[in-house]
Amino acid sequence: MNDTEAWDLYWQSGIINSCVTQSDELVDNALFVFWTSHLSRLPQTPKVLDLATGNGAVVHLLHKAESKLQLTGIDRAKIVSASQHDEHSPQFLSNIDITQTPFKNQSFDLITSQFGVEYAMCTNGTDSMQSVLQEISRLLRPGGIFQLLIHHSESSLLHSNARKRDELAYLLQDGGLISDLWRFSHSDLSVSDLELSGQNYLHTAQIKTQAISGQIFSAINHFIQQQGMPETQGSISDVITRVKAEHSRLKQLCAAAMSEDDLVMMERLAENNDLAIETKKAFEVENKDGTLDLLAWQIVGSKGS
Ligand SMILES: C[S@@+](CC[C@H](N)C(=O)[O-])C[C@H]1O[C@@H](n2cnc3c(N)ncnc32)[C@H](O)[C@@H]1O
Repeated sequence: MNDTEAWDLYWQSGIINSCVTQSDELVDNALFVFWTSHLSRLPQTPKVLDLATGNGAVVHLLHKAESKLQLTGIDRAKIVSASQHDEHSPQFLSNIDITQTPFKNQSFDLITSQFGVEYAMCTNGTDSMQSVLQEISRLLRPGGIFQLLIHHSESSLLHSNARKRDELAYLLQDGGLISDLWRFSHSDLSVSDLELSGQNYLHTAQIKTQAISGQIFSAINHFIQQQGMPETQGSISDVITRVKAEHSRLKQLCAAAMSEDDLVMMERLAENNDLAIETKKAFEVENKDGTLDLLAWQIVGSKGS
């Protein structure tokens, strides 16, 4: 499974948010304030492009906030929002790489991306960062604004997802529980050997969560009960595909996260592309108890006029 297929599968479920999935009023408010804070700087009927949009979390937020915006969201993956277009709603396009978009020069007043550009920036060192910034610069009109929320290498989001990634990697390793489940589905492993494999996994030092290992165990118990039923092999194959996709997405997320040094590099490359960064700081959200939760980097800048 390649990187994009993992996202295809995710977006086909119709989910709107990816990285901040739990509905939390404080986070939602902070995101709303961030994404709407520069709208007053835009012209009358501004054209807005959301890069690596997924199912359009930012596009939908902006559409609700200001109906005059002409919104377009693009993603390399197959996104379901792309099939729900009518003339008054935002436009969504699948299968578009943000480093090679089909739009004319200076087409947009605002370019946004929430946990998006960094996925395209990390694939080939500074070359990929350069390609993304060059395209942003090409697409913005002079004086146009760009606004980015980027995974922070020290964020709680990164740390919790790195733990999930490791748990999935352990389950997926050669000879591990998932490969034994696959062998079971192909009648290459008995029920008792699959149960033994499960016991062995439980005794390893790997941290196990209810959300990942717990779910796999209930699925396996279900499959053992359904053994011999014609649809069981297909159901096992679906579960394995979903586990692989989740592992791929979390691996991409962790690789995409940026450190302070990465941001310094990005700022230098932005300047080379006539993009000035005005704000570059941590995006923190206040919890109910008053403590701060580091969620991301927030970057705001503009193209030279
Ligand atoms: C974490 S999701 C973010 C989606 C959305 N912005 C959100 O906030 O829910 C990252 C997205 O980046 C997309 N992506 C990664 N590399 C890309 C590229 N080179 N061009 C376009 N999209 C890309 C993936 O397909 C995925 O949908």
